[in-house]
This record gives sequence, C-alpha cells and structure tokens, in this order.
Amino acid sequence: MTRKKIVAGNWKMNLQLNDAIQLIDEIVDNSKDLSAVELMVFPPALFLLEIAKIKNQLTVGTQNFYPKESGAFTGEISITQIKKCGASHVLIGHSERREIFHESEELIKQKVDAAISHEIGIVFCCGEPLHIRENETQSSYVKQQLIDSLFHLSDAEIQTCVIAYEPIWAIGTGRTASVDEAEEMHCAIRSWITEFYSSEIANSISILYGGSCNASNAKELFSCQNVDGGLIGGASLQAESFITIARSF
Ligand code: PGA
Repeated sequence: MTRKKIVAGNWKMNLQLNDAIQLIDEIVDNSKDLSAVELMVFPPALFLLEIAKIKNQLTVGTQNFYPKESGAFTGEISITQIKKCGASHVLIGHSERREIFHESEELIKQKVDAAISHEIGIVFCCGEPLHIRENETQSSYVKQQLIDSLFHLSDAEIQTCVIAYEPIWAIGTGRTASVDEAEEMHCAIRSWITEFYSSEIANSISILYGGSCNASNAKELFSCQNVDGGLIGGASLQAESFITIARSF
C-alpha cells in the first residue's frame, strides 16, 4: 500500500500576521501542481482564521490546545475553538511542549483522546534527548513514548494519526540525523505499530522525520524507505525552502 507523503511546516512562535499571510500566499501559489504530497502548516493559533481563509489546497492545524471543552483555563484554547476557526489537525507531544512546558505523558494522552473524539487529525511527535542517544537507549525511550500516549488507540483511530520522529538533539541545531539513524528509528516505529496493531496498519501510517530537515538534505532523508516526509521548523518559514523540501520525493 502506498502511504501518504506529507511535508508539514511548524512555524512555532515566529512571524507577524502580515508575514504569515505572505508566506501562505506564496506556498499556495507555488504548490498547485503538487498533488502527490500533502502540505500542512501549523501557524501560531492567533493567525488561524486568516490562514484558513486563504489555505486553498493546504491542510492547516495548530501547534497546541488544551484538552477540556471549556471553562476556567486562563490563556488556553479548546479543540472546538480551533476546529471552528479552521484547524483540521494538531501537533501533539512536540519536544518543546514536553521540555519547556513540562507536558506529561498523561496530558499528552488526554490531548490525543480529545483530538480523536473531535475528529481532528493528529501529528504525534516523539524523539529522544541527546543523553539518551549517547547511552544508545533511544529505541526503548521512543517506544515508551508511543506506548504511554498513543498505542492505547483502537485500530481505526491509530490509522488517522501521523507520527513524527524528531530527535531532540537535531531540532533547531543544524545537526540532522544521518540517513541511517533516521531510517533505523522509522523502521523500528513501524515494527512497534505491527507489534501493537498489524503490519497492514503499520504500512498505512505516515512517519515523518523532523530536526534540521532543510532544502539541502530533504532528498536524502526522503529517499529512505520508511521516511514518508518531514516536519519542518526553521526551513518552513520561507516559501522557497518549504516548497523545495516538498518537491524532494
Ligand atoms: P527544525 O524544527 O526543523 O527547526 O529543527 C523541527 C521541529 O521542531 O518540528
């Protein structure tokens, strides 16, 4: 079975509204012929309404939400609010949320369940910090992240998810995982999906690589059998590099 190819831009806390509108306009204009790749963008939530108006063929999501329906949660946004403002997808478990904002496996699991119950697509991020890679225990570390917060889903539910492997030591550092390191972990993730679900399901789920993926290294990374695209931070802030990455399959 052929898995969906996906290139997703995580804009993080960057850009002003006018820059964001210009960026989405340029991406839309330069990707009209790119039917074989799904392009996703994750702008700051504040820009969601404006971006959703001009997104055209692109998929738009948010970088965060709080998994309660409504209530006294000052500063937070609910999944219904983001959905009604045009988001169809969410990032969950990004290492910056885990590390800077101390999101627990339990909170991440609640977010997964909230997204599933509202039929919002999930891009579930996992990945090990540097000291875990140096101890060579990255496999059990990443497997546990998936068991703790994702692998409780049913067969039908897990198939609506995308997984992004993002080694923390590669995010925003300019140090990319080597092709062998990426392929080895992606292959392992697919084998764990087979273990918990089935090989059919494992072969249907797109697994993206993230961490200093850019216009120069995307082709090599995307040539790996088990790498189905990328979750792109810095290089997604310019239409030219984002589109070059999207054309790297
Ligand atoms: P980077 O970020 O491409 O800037 O390394 C990737 C991410 O955090 O999703």
